[in-house]
Amino acid sequence: MRGLGHGPANVPLLLLYRSLVMWKADDRRFIFVTGKGGVGKTTVAAALARALAGRGKRVLIVMCNAKERVSAMFACDPVGSEIASVAERIWAVNVDPELAFQEYGRMVLKVPGLYRVVFQNKYVKSFLPAVPGLSDWAMLGKAWYHTTERTDGGRHRFDVVLFDAPATGHGLDMLRVPKVIVDVVPAGVLRRDAETAWRMFKNPEETGVVVVTLPEELPVTETLELVSAVRGELELPLGILAVNGVLPALFSEPERKTFRAIEIGASPVSTPEEAVVAAARRALQEELQAASLTRLLAGASMQHVVLPYLFEDAATPRAIEALSAHF
Ligand SMILES: Nc1ncnc2c1ncn2[C@@H]1O[C@H](COP(=O)(O)OP(=O)(O)OP(=O)(O)O)[C@@H](O)[C@H]1O
Ligand SMILES: [Mg+2]
Repeated sequence: MRGLGHGPANVPLLLLYRSLVMWKADDRRFIFVTGKGGVGKTTVAAALARALAGRGKRVLIVMCNAKERVSAMFACDPVGSEIASVAERIWAVNVDPELAFQEYGRMVLKVPGLYRVVFQNKYVKSFLPAVPGLSDWAMLGKAWYHTTERTDGGRHRFDVVLFDAPATGHGLDMLRVPKVIVDVVPAGVLRRDAETAWRMFKNPEETGVVVVTLPEELPVTETLELVSAVRGELELPLGILAVNGVLPALFSEPERKTFRAIEIGASPVSTPEEAVVAAARRALQEELQAASLTRLLAGASMQHVVLPYLFEDAATPRAIEALSAHF
């Protein structure tokens, strides 16, 4: 068989292969962390931020009006609507849509006072919320804006912006927002920004969507739908699939089968010890996880990382540090 040799003729093939399989968060400027509610998006965003910061990147985590838990993850003061430093080379902000909207208005209408006249106007105030997704755009647009900021020295203020997307439906609604604005809002500053942001989000060199899921039946089904929508409908660049909360395997496959027989009462052991029953349940759980994982990886066909289930509070600096090692 002819393998991928090391001759010069194989270099383009190797590069293509690498570009297809080796996705690295380090090379991106904007990362969406998305997935169903409660699967571990914020935990993954924090762990990824920690990994990137550990490799010298300056990272901003943007949360959308979320229940603030990042302070527990980094042992820092609660994070509010102002950007705050939460760890070395890591900043975070919890965006308040109303405030973000005002901030955006001030940025767009640079003249002080004009903002008040325009945005506090009764007519404008009643009209603006009707523009589809405008308050979502205020949050996402703010996150995007921070990718464009430069320090006085001319370097980017943040190397990477991690956007911890809300769990509305699939978090897909949020990803659709700039496209909706590009499609429906008349030409002007708002559309110009949305177009620039959308171009960045579509560029695989700059942006990546990190999809977080659990290795369980329902989340896997929904994740496969999410992945196919990101790939098909939105045509946004997929980054990595983070399979969170995976139980470390205690048993080999034959051991699992033995325990499984006990669990369903098909074993000669009629009254098994409690510990054996517990082991049997664990074996069953492992088996279900393994089956879900197989289905997920086959269906999603994208690079993945497996994050272990932690038998401790995951919202601590120690847990985040441990999870960051997987990125
Ligand atoms: N690998 C893990 N092991 C154990 N617990 C975990 C793990 N990952 C996350 N958790 C815990 O699961 C819960 C949900 O995690 P997290 O808040 O990150 O999810 P989320 O997707 O951001 O939720 P939401 O949709 O509400 O924003 C938290 O209590 C978190 O500490
Ligand atoms: Mg969250």
